Amino acid sequence: MRTLLLVYLCTYAVWGRSLDYDDDDDDGDGKASVAANATAAVDARGHRPLQRGREAYSPVRNAPPPISSGSRYRGRPSAPQVSPGRVQEKEEQPDRGGCSHASQELGVLCPNGCELKTALLKQERDVRTSISELQPQVEQLTRSSNDVHNYVSRVSASLRERQRVIGDNSATVSRYTDSVEEQHAYIKETVDTVFPSSIRILQGVLDQVRQKIQKLEKAIQAQQEDCKEPCRTRCPIPVVSGKECEDIFRRGGTESQMYLVQPDTAAPPYRVFCDQITHNGGWLLIQSRLDGSVDFGRRWDDYRRGFGNVALDAGKGRCDTPGEYWLGNDRISQLTNAGPTELLIEMQDWTGAKVFARYQKFTVQSAASNYVLAVDGYSGNAGNSFMEGSLELFGVNRTMTIHNGMMFSTYDRDNDNWTPGDPAKQCSREDGGGWWYNRCHSSNPNGRYYMGGAYTRHMAKHGTDDGVVWMNWKGSWYSQKAISMKVRPFFKS
Ligand SMILES: *[C@@H]1O[C@H](CO)[C@@H](O)[C@H](O)[C@H]1NC(C)=O
Ligand SMILES: *[C@@H]1O[C@H](CO)[C@@H](O)[C@H](O)[C@H]1NC(C)=O
Repeated sequence: MRTLLLVYLCTYAVWGRSLDYDDDDDDGDGKASVAANATAAVDARGHRPLQRGREAYSPVRNAPPPISSGSRYRGRPSAPQVSPGRVQEKEEQPDRGGCSHASQELGVLCPNGCELKTALLKQERDVRTSISELQPQVEQLTRSSNDVHNYVSRVSASLRERQRVIGDNSATVSRYTDSVEEQHAYIKETVDTVFPSSIRILQGVLDQVRQKIQKLEKAIQAQQEDCKEPCRTRCPIPVVSGKECEDIFRRGGTESQMYLVQPDTAAPPYRVFCDQITHNGGWLLIQSRLDGSVDFGRRWDDYRRGFGNVALDAGKGRCDTPGEYWLGNDRISQLTNAGPTELLIEMQDWTGAKVFARYQKFTVQSAASNYVLAVDGYSGNAGNSFMEGSLELFGVNRTMTIHNGMMFSTYDRDNDNWTPGDPAKQCSREDGGGWWYNRCHSSNPNGRYYMGGAYTRHMAKHGTDDGVVWMNWKGSWYSQKAISMKVRPFFKS
């Protein structure tokens, strides 16, 4: 009986723990990973070293330089011109959130909630089956322990009777009684303490499982409420709009928030987040990571069209909080080909420290050339990842991590410079995002989002540094808390 119980206990203890994996309290993992920082700090990984004599690597790609002549704008006037008479009533164009989106302009903006719902529903099903298996077993245990208890009560009663009968008998009998008493004590203790406590533990496990199911049910309910009707993220379109964020800034749109832009009159306008504060404003957000809420391990078409959430209303009645998104390679290419364009990349680690990299010239070629990246004119304190590669590496190893001149790759479209044509050698598959991979990277802003920053090769899906990496700041094994890329038409200030 005892053995049986122990077996049950072990099974359920293990089973109970395996549930914790996707539980909502996995902050612990994040903290544990920070501790691993010390050992992982100096292990540079971004490159794929050559196998001597068996492989060749050619850094040469005949990529055109970034657009650098002409300028769409003169220097900023000292104060932005607020256009008078444009103060119309704000028009509410509710953004359909939820599982579908009213406008397909930015791909399907399915909030991760819906993905969560699917995952939760699946989990709930598993747990329900397991609990229905568990329940009869616990009941049976309770029953059999009751039987044993009754039996022992009867033994106790007859023992008391016998004690009364032989109470005044000889010493031999009393020795016999002693041993019976000992056994009785043992059995009684087992039944009174060990069995009930085992059952209590089982009951505890059961209660825990019940609580988990309740939590899951609550989460599912909340999600169902959310998805019942297309959730409205009320994003009033600001009165001011323009070709891009610099245009909007000059027309008086000096608050950072979501705006409608139309850089190409032949194409419909679309929503973007404009940063009108940082580095004098006028920046159009093309990439944003800040909480890991959007999956960036996506296909070519997603990266082409764009995905994610442009902005949220944090409670001020306007969408002044950027979400996580990728604007889309077609739009990025269109924006950067309209004239000389600047790029600002900002990032923040998990302690709140911030650095940036800025390129005075940034052009993304057309889809026909697989969106070749061209940059020039670096400044900043994050390190010139795009042009110099990783400073932790040397010689050809460093050259392999330069992004400038590379085509864009996703896991389903391999355009990288790592043995082109070999399906086993694809940077995007190993490093987690769509990017201008070489062989492979010194920066990986679209990589996997790791809570807490430091991570190890054992946590990575393929053992490679697939995090939100910027090697020249934090090395291969640190994933940034936040990173963003913003563009602005170049003008002399
Ligand atoms: C992470 O690594 C850096 C560089 O080795 C070190 O200065 C820092 O104290 C480490 N942080 C933690 C939390 O271990
Ligand atoms: C390149 O990296 C490999 C392994 O990471 C190393 O063995 C080799 O010495 C490196 N080459 C140079 C020139 O640093």
